[in-house]
Amino acid sequence: MLKNFWYACEFSSAITSKPLRVPLLNQQFVLYRNSQGKVMAFLDQCPHRGAALSLGKVENDCIRCPYHGWKFHDGACIEIPANQPGVPIPKKAHLDAYPVQEKYGFVWLFWGDIPENECPPLPSFPEVKNLALRSLQSEFKCNAHYTRLIENSIDPAHSAFVHVNSFGSGIAQEPRLANYEINMEGWGGSASLYHNRQSSKGFFWKYLRQKQPPKIKTTRGFYMPNMVYANTENVILFIAHVPIDDKTTISKFIQFRSFLTQPWADKIFRKYNLKINQEDKLIVESQSPKVMPYDLAAEIHAPADALPLAYRKLHKKCLDIGWGEEPHISQSNYTNGHILSVERQLI
Ligand code: FES
Ligand SMILES: [Fe+2]
Repeated sequence: MLKNFWYACEFSSAITSKPLRVPLLNQQFVLYRNSQGKVMAFLDQCPHRGAALSLGKVENDCIRCPYHGWKFHDGACIEIPANQPGVPIPKKAHLDAYPVQEKYGFVWLFWGDIPENECPPLPSFPEVKNLALRSLQSEFKCNAHYTRLIENSIDPAHSAFVHVNSFGSGIAQEPRLANYEINMEGWGGSASLYHNRQSSKGFFWKYLRQKQPPKIKTTRGFYMPNMVYANTENVILFIAHVPIDDKTTISKFIQFRSFLTQPWADKIFRKYNLKINQEDKLIVESQSPKVMPYDLAAEIHAPADALPLAYRKLHKKCLDIGWGEEPHISQSNYTNGHILSVERQLI
């Protein structure tokens, strides 16, 4: 897992004046919205006896611990109910606070140890300027490492196989992909591909086929550390693959659509998204090793893998500059004809 980045970790709409536990990066955070609408984020662990503050209450912008009622304002303890008057509050009675921003419907939490003004900025997605688009949120849990899920989301070659029973049925008739250009920008990258429009399964494709030109353009992109997006036809999809721990990811989707924008259609999109997610989940959970390999030669790459490979290279660059949080020990069991790397031998 990487440090020194803003992590999209929750939907903005989920954060209210009620404290919410948000798992991220092998830790638990508590988030709530104060009376000015600002999102506050702390480690979800009371410095007194470690109780989860998310089980407590927000009172006048302060959070009160559910165990002994200690009350914190902007992280500082301002009240210990069991104390006699005049007993000083220990200076160490302080919560760890984290910087938070909101953008594109997500809450982004900065996790790292460099000054905030030196950290990579949030991504810029100019596509999301039409607020008339209908948006739909959904989330899925996967027993997989978030790096594998990011790769899956930006992998153009799997649709013809993994999604042959949904949106990929048309692509399956012509799975060849033209070589494509990668556009690297800051801490992200993207690529656009064109498919011949073929008969695909599913209600939406039938709907769209009547209205659209014969080529389908799909743009996919990633932005470090955990955001991906896809822009196809009249649908823009943002996915925050939230790393919960080394084996669990919660993927939070915000899908914008410019057709069938009536609320009744949400149910159909929800069902369709669930089906697609289940198709991906089955495969991604089967991958070994769990974590995307650090060594670029550990797995084999074909031309269609150019965008996932660009992600691997940027991820490796982050690890090389010391932004990895733990020794990166993932390694494919295949040697691909190479002598095992020094990294593997050391493990
Ligand atoms: S554990 Fe929070 S007040 Fe005691
Ligand atoms: Fe997929």
